[in-house]
Amino acid sequence: MSKHFYLTTPIFYVNGAPHIGHAYTMIAADVLARWKRLDGYEVFFLTGTDEHGQKVEKAAADAGKAPQLFTDEVSAVFADIARQMNISNDAFIRTTEDRHKRASKALWEKLQAGGHIYLGGYEGWYSVRDESFYDEAELIVNANGEKIATTGAPVEYVTEPSYFFRMSAFGQKLIDYIEANPDFIGPKERRNEVLGFLKSPEGLKDLSISRTSFRWGVPVPGDDAHVMYVWIDALTNYLTAIGYPDTDGPLWKFWPADLHLVGKDILRFHAVIWPALLMAAELPLPKRVFAHGWWTIEGEKMSKSIGNVIDPRELAETFGVDPLRFFLLRETTFGSDGDYSRASLIRRMNVELANDLGNLAQRTLSFIAKNAGAVMPSRGAETPEDQALASLRDALIKHVGDAISRQAFHEALESVWVTIRAGNAYIDQQAPWTLRKTDMVRMEAVLANLLDLLRVVASVLQPFMPDSMSKMLDQLGVAANARQLADLATPIATGTPLPAPAGVFPRFVEPEA
Ligand code: MSP
Repeated sequence: MSKHFYLTTPIFYVNGAPHIGHAYTMIAADVLARWKRLDGYEVFFLTGTDEHGQKVEKAAADAGKAPQLFTDEVSAVFADIARQMNISNDAFIRTTEDRHKRASKALWEKLQAGGHIYLGGYEGWYSVRDESFYDEAELIVNANGEKIATTGAPVEYVTEPSYFFRMSAFGQKLIDYIEANPDFIGPKERRNEVLGFLKSPEGLKDLSISRTSFRWGVPVPGDDAHVMYVWIDALTNYLTAIGYPDTDGPLWKFWPADLHLVGKDILRFHAVIWPALLMAAELPLPKRVFAHGWWTIEGEKMSKSIGNVIDPRELAETFGVDPLRFFLLRETTFGSDGDYSRASLIRRMNVELANDLGNLAQRTLSFIAKNAGAVMPSRGAETPEDQALASLRDALIKHVGDAISRQAFHEALESVWVTIRAGNAYIDQQAPWTLRKTDMVRMEAVLANLLDLLRVVASVLQPFMPDSMSKMLDQLGVAANARQLADLATPIATGTPLPAPAGVFPRFVEPEA
């Protein structure tokens, strides 16, 4: 049986330009998708855009454009960002596509047929910015005496006819499910938060799932006066992309999804509303939902009003895509918040990429080019130091794989850097430049050990920095069609010619003002 893996990012609202937070979700998911492919899985990696709802309708009106034209333009910008960040998504979904409207209607009808939907009226608070309904008790009062959501978003009081989803019927079922499946929600602290919410005395309420005060949405089947609440159609995207409602199509084998990767702000939609909808529709639940943290910028919340919104395209242009990808996953624990600063990005680039990894590769490879015939040197009898290095190297593949499968990208990178530092200590201690004068056989063995180490390091780093590691593997004499994890079992043959080495990670020097 083939191993397969279905992984999603949230679909992005097209009300504004992409920023570093959007790129972050895509990059993290991309690392996981690439890792699974390296490990021999058939992967379906989905990203896309969330184009309905009042927020997007308003953004289009503010831009003086018809909503469809506006969303076409902004969605194309998100698709470009994915390319620019070297995201290897297999599909890009747009919620304004006909296939998606069809899937959303089919899911609605399935819920309706099961008796899970009724017509009522919603009277209460709504935030357009968050596209979320709020209870009175969830609101706070700001300095101007206005009621706002705890996210800082303005709210308005709305009274309108609305269809409801009988979500209250699923409270206990969700608690039981989450308790029986400890890995369903990650990280652990977030799982406890969701359980706390579900177990709160008020319990789970029914959910308003249609709106009548605007038109930009998927029409409710059989009642054109309503459009679906944007989150209902948005969540359905994960089914649309693999062919729903045609559950006999070629992609349906990917359901249930293995992982929905989301930001912490939208965990409840994915860990409460989505599984309740799926239970009602009698569909299997995703295997895991993981929430990552948020980035602040030099200690401040990123916001248009502060004017500190970071465009990932500018960073990629200045520093390169791979250093940016590396920084975002290295700087902070995945699952916790992180702080971006230009200085810390430059520090990581110069210390960890240029010095630690770049130099280890560069000094090993240029020494071989000059002193060992520019080929893979001969291996020799192993000393205890060689064995210590080899066991670190062999354990690395498993460490990185385990960490990535728990979405602990920071742990994966830390274990790689521990190994790289050990490689630098080894070369200093073994001093091949001295052996060159005393013991050429041992010199070759030392160099071969270093190349074997570098090959594993570059291989496991491929998902994080695809272009740079592809260059490094070229220089290590590893054929382009032999870069899967399984290929690591076959050593590079002694005598394999090595191309002329060239540095992969230049130091970043601030341009003179
Ligand atoms: N459209 C919804 C998701 C629907 S999924 C069925 C949405 N879109 S969004 O564009 O507002 O956010 C997309 C993702 O970007 C979310 O995972 C969110 O957490 C993430 N981020 C937005 N700002 C962020 C930071 N400052 N830092 C990290 N991630 C951030 O929500």
